[in-house]
Amino acid sequence: VDDADNTQAHEAQREARWLAALRPMAATLPESGIMTVINYGHDKAGVVPFWAGEGDVPTPAFIAEAAIEALRQGHTFYTYQRGIPPLRQAVAAYIHRHFLADVDPERVIITGSGMQAIMQTVQALVGPGDEVVVVSPVWPNIFAAIHMQEAVARPVPLQCAQDAWRLDLDRLFDACGSRTRALFLNTPGNPTGWIMEPEDMLRVRDFARARGLWIIVDEVYGQFVYDRPRVTSFLEVMEPDEQLIVVNTFSKNWSMTGWRVGWVVIPHSRSLGQVYENLVQYNTSGVPAFLQYGCVTALTDGDAYLKSLVEQCRQGRALVCERLATVPRVRLVWPQGAFYLFFQVAGEPDSLTLAKRLVDEAQVGLAPGSAFGTGGEGFLRLCFAASSATLRTGVERLVAALA
Ligand SMILES: Cc1ncc(COP(=O)(O)O)c(C=O)c1O
Repeated sequence: VDDADNTQAHEAQREARWLAALRPMAATLPESGIMTVINYGHDKAGVVPFWAGEGDVPTPAFIAEAAIEALRQGHTFYTYQRGIPPLRQAVAAYIHRHFLADVDPERVIITGSGMQAIMQTVQALVGPGDEVVVVSPVWPNIFAAIHMQEAVARPVPLQCAQDAWRLDLDRLFDACGSRTRALFLNTPGNPTGWIMEPEDMLRVRDFARARGLWIIVDEVYGQFVYDRPRVTSFLEVMEPDEQLIVVNTFSKNWSMTGWRVGWVVIPHSRSLGQVYENLVQYNTSGVPAFLQYGCVTALTDGDAYLKSLVEQCRQGRALVCERLATVPRVRLVWPQGAFYLFFQVAGEPDSLTLAKRLVDEAQVGLAPGSAFGTGGEGFLRLCFAASSATLRTGVERLVAALA
């Protein structure tokens, strides 16, 4: 026992030395709580995975074929840092088709994922000591990106009302102080499905204008909306020369999570365009050209696929909510958007412990609410983007385990 203790103590010392040798910002980055459960469960056979933000089918063949064809044609060289021109044009056309906004393709920058779009945005906007007010609970990587700039995230929690998640705008505005540089909104939101109403968007816009703040909006779930025909994009309520950055991705709309391609819409500014180009150059040196050709096809030919995916999620939402609502311990509100159910189980305040237990006892993988920051503990997140057979299997196991 002594030997074992000594070995353990030595190893702990060695690890502590490694961490002390690193930049404190990097050494103190937390592991994503979503990954904690995935790492715990992904080698366990038979677990139905609802923990990550993706479905269970690969990218549709017509999109994959376009990338394969581009690869065959030799699109294997370094390419435009801001994205290939046809892709930037296709993004602008997509925005025009789906939202009441005209965006000049010059404002579109292609990034190596939505995550990179967020990272480059915080790199451009905030530094040590700056504050970003973030509506939470929210995808943990947003907090981590801010932390990596040695800036401070100030979370403002949504309230879980009887029928929906709500944001108290006064609390949002009160959280903004002299060091605040930006507001970060994710609407429709992960994990709650919260959607900011257009009248609130106007109030936020006016507040940000008056204070000279940036608005960063993550609209990656902008198509996943169930009880209304569509959502309003911030691009519809703000002018091209205002301090607005809109983050998006190919991951969710066209089942392309593994491609790692996203985009941002930045204000109409030659200098800002150059800054984003530089940030692409020095972070990733651009997105592989052959992937970008696949992305052009997703945007130009992918509306029908997108529509069917949203429809599948609508049915998935109903299946999951109706079944889990039959469990007396479960408290839930139907999410308005995105593709997650964020629910509570009475008597289970520790979401990480519960998520791990459900991996072992129900063979279902969920994300713990504690991963999503202020307001998240006590909840579990279930992604309902999978096909109905997978959802049914997983949800029946959950119902049995939680009952
Ligand atoms: C709110 C939000 N933003 C951005 C992303 C990034 O997506 P990706 O990096 O796959 O493009 C995700 C992924 O889950 C997300 O939930």
